[in-house]
Amino acid sequence: MTTLLRSAKLDVANDDRVGLFDLQRQRARLESDLKARIEAVLMHGQFILGPEVDTLEKRLADYTGAPHVVAVSSGRDALMIALMAMGVKPGDAVFVPAFTFAATAGAVASIGASPVFVDADPVTYDMDPADLERAIAEVKAEGRLKPAVIMPVDLYGLPADYATIGAIADRHGMTVLADAAQSMGGVYHNKRVGALAPITATSFYPTKPLGCYGDGGAILTDREDLADRVRMIRSHGRQGTGDAAMVLGLTGRLDTIQAAVLLVKLDVFDVELERRRAIASRYNAGLAGVVGVPAIPADRDSAFAIYTIRTARRDRVRTLLDEAGIGTGLFYRLALHQHPAFCDYAIRSLPVSEQLANEVIALPMHPDLSDEEVDRVIAAVKHAVAKA
Ligand SMILES: Cc1ncc(COP(=O)(O)O)c(C=O)c1O
Repeated sequence: MTTLLRSAKLDVANDDRVGLFDLQRQRARLESDLKARIEAVLMHGQFILGPEVDTLEKRLADYTGAPHVVAVSSGRDALMIALMAMGVKPGDAVFVPAFTFAATAGAVASIGASPVFVDADPVTYDMDPADLERAIAEVKAEGRLKPAVIMPVDLYGLPADYATIGAIADRHGMTVLADAAQSMGGVYHNKRVGALAPITATSFYPTKPLGCYGDGGAILTDREDLADRVRMIRSHGRQGTGDAAMVLGLTGRLDTIQAAVLLVKLDVFDVELERRRAIASRYNAGLAGVVGVPAIPADRDSAFAIYTIRTARRDRVRTLLDEAGIGTGLFYRLALHQHPAFCDYAIRSLPVSEQLANEVIALPMHPDLSDEEVDRVIAAVKHAVAKA
């Protein structure tokens, strides 16, 4: 157990070990720019909503194609603030995938609305539109909750099927809120994440494809009214510098120092994404036929926040990889309805999500992995699967 815990720790890469993530190599590569940007914030002293936050919001709007971007305190806060801005309330049903991080459903339940779990597509692992239709029909038939929002997650960085999900939302008079915490840089139908749904929430958690050095997130939308409400909610409900709380708000702002870090990382973001995709292709080529490898539909591209394989003997394979010096992670060991915190919402059968939770393993993925390290991981996986 101790060795598994060690392998899940961040930044464990050294000569003997290939780390699951490794932020130190990127820091070394970007060090002088990072220091200059952070130093500039220390000197001007506007630590809250300083000029770097403004610049970051504009640059992310340019990059994603989303007309309005509001930087906030974390990915989970981005989801919660978006739901508050949309007027979601107790009695509303928000359809979320069962196979995702706890924050997706946590944001919904925290504002008193009800998460309704939808099973995963067995090929992409994203929300299955066919099961979404079934879940909506069930909620309507029961009549207790009002279907309000569909919240797909771009799992591991792969955009969900927004065309199909958007059409379902339109048909039932619902809105789509994209949980794009893992997928900044992902592409669907030639558009970037941020411009795929009426409103999108993302995370800048350090290990995300675009990560800062603490907590951070953003809300991206093409609706000016929503953007205005989001700006108020992130700052205690106040409009601009006014004293009056116009709506119920919270302390949801992104720190200026985090925006400064993100500006440096945005400069190299496309190069890093390209490297992530090249690593994923190398893994796929080496591991197809040995384990289940990610299937990327032709109409989209993943940001590869996480690279995940699938094998029935997951726990044994993971132990062998740990012994071989390969860092791995389990995203996720439990589907949401299996978490004690969400037992009140565990009313649907979700077999694909449960099977994925038993079979997935994340392999090392970050833009500073060398080809030699990727090959070492591939060889170790082949060896582990043969022995497991
Ligand atoms: C799918 C998903 N949603 C929401 C979040 C929450 O983001 P944060 O950790 O920035 O609050 C995460 C973060 O890991 C995530 O993976």
